[in-house]
Amino acid sequence: MEKGKDTSKSRTRRDFIKSTGAAALATPFVFNIGMAQGLDNTNVDTLKIGLIGCGGRGTGAANQALSADDNVILTAVGDVFPDKMEASITNLQQIHKDKVKIDNDHKFLGFDSYKKVLESDVDVVLLATPPAFRPGHLSAAIAAGKHVFCEKPMAVDVPGLKKVYAAAKAAKEKNLSLVSGFCWRYHFPKRETFGKVLNGDIGEVMSVYNTYNTGELWSRPRQPEWSEMEFKMRNWLYFNWLSGDHITEQAIHSIDMMSWAMGDVLPVKVTGTGGRQQRIDPKYGHVYDHFAIVYEYESGAKGFHFSRQQKNCTNSYAVDINGTKGNCMVDCIKRKHEIVSGGEKWRYRGEGNDMYQTEHNELFASIRSGKHMNDGEWMANSTMLAIIGRMAAYSGQTITWEEAMKSEEVLGPPMGDYSWDLDWPTKTPAVPGEYKLF
Ligand SMILES: NC(=O)c1ccc[n+]([C@@H]2O[C@H](COP(=O)([O-])OP(=O)(O)OC[C@H]3O[C@@H](n4cnc5c(N)ncnc54)[C@H](O)[C@@H]3O)[C@@H](O)[C@H]2O)c1
Repeated sequence: MEKGKDTSKSRTRRDFIKSTGAAALATPFVFNIGMAQGLDNTNVDTLKIGLIGCGGRGTGAANQALSADDNVILTAVGDVFPDKMEASITNLQQIHKDKVKIDNDHKFLGFDSYKKVLESDVDVVLLATPPAFRPGHLSAAIAAGKHVFCEKPMAVDVPGLKKVYAAAKAAKEKNLSLVSGFCWRYHFPKRETFGKVLNGDIGEVMSVYNTYNTGELWSRPRQPEWSEMEFKMRNWLYFNWLSGDHITEQAIHSIDMMSWAMGDVLPVKVTGTGGRQQRIDPKYGHVYDHFAIVYEYESGAKGFHFSRQQKNCTNSYAVDINGTKGNCMVDCIKRKHEIVSGGEKWRYRGEGNDMYQTEHNELFASIRSGKHMNDGEWMANSTMLAIIGRMAAYSGQTITWEEAMKSEEVLGPPMGDYSWDLDWPTKTPAVPGEYKLF
């Protein structure tokens, strides 16, 4: 159905969503008939979006979702802080005056706001809270039959991650699209460059050195009227039960690119070190400020990851891949994509793109076409690579993938136990050799 045509005689909006969503599983025959007859789903009707987590990234993702398709509106939002929610709505209204249609009774506040967004009539949800909530939000979103944009990281511990694997599988079975916030995978220069590596242009990959060395990040000073929980929630980066620590929350982008270069093969074992030297004030909770991790693969290849959040040091955000025939250098700061192999140098000279926008363009196109995307398995694997790196560094132990996947360590409270009275303990930073994983 083309945009602007009378849709009254065509399938209704609900039919469209059903045929491209959860109900497609229950009624595969109907779905297949539609596809077999070559029905064009483009702009059959308006897609409604719900945003869960209205901070910087959530607001950005909502902007991109609203820009991705002519016929989308934002109808519901959920957050725990009214100031964050209102600022986000105001921003979005300024950019998308006609596409932000949120009634007051669709502005949901509180730790259960996600449930209310999911119970509303939205078709697509954007998950952009701090990472700890992601497994619960993603599982509930897929169970409710919603298409999902899911920011990284997808979990902070292994039990949470297992819910993500299960939700990703369920999304596939239900014909729901699931797109991850690992944005570099949506960057045209990196797609072509990593494509060449995967194509064997530098031979067999022997090592992937990858960095995310940056300065300090923001922190919010404690206010007298804040509870302990509010302080932690407003400074979630510094509490590993909310963020997963900075290797999981931020440096994971480089780890994901390492995994991409390795063909998303999983390492056999992982060794690491880390600690905190600059960021020792109690306001920084208990996270580290540097990590160094070695990933060992069955092929003999090794991945070397360095990350730090320390001021006055050299910054680096790059992936340096060595193969049996050549080298590939991807530098996210210098915007360099280069391969040297067999005495020849190749440099990406093609089109650039806004990778954040491309994530949503592809998500909405997949929903429209019924050819559903599912980033689920690799996005969960990349999250696990960061979690196992943290486990190795915290404990000082070399850990196999198999052992790590058996971990029952849960960093924070169960989803239903979050409340403003909660005073979840801030443990001292992990001491290698003493920290018990199992
Ligand atoms: N892909 C990228 O390049 C990229 C960039 C920045 C952030 N991120 C990721 O996006 C996520 C959010 O980061 P951010 O920078 O927007 O943080 P933020 O603090 O700006 O936003 C988080 C929002 O979630 C809200 N929130 C917290 N707990 C909630 C809950 N239980 N239910 C509903 N809302 C809740 C907060 O009040 C806040 O408005 C993180 O996982 C981060 O790693 C990804």
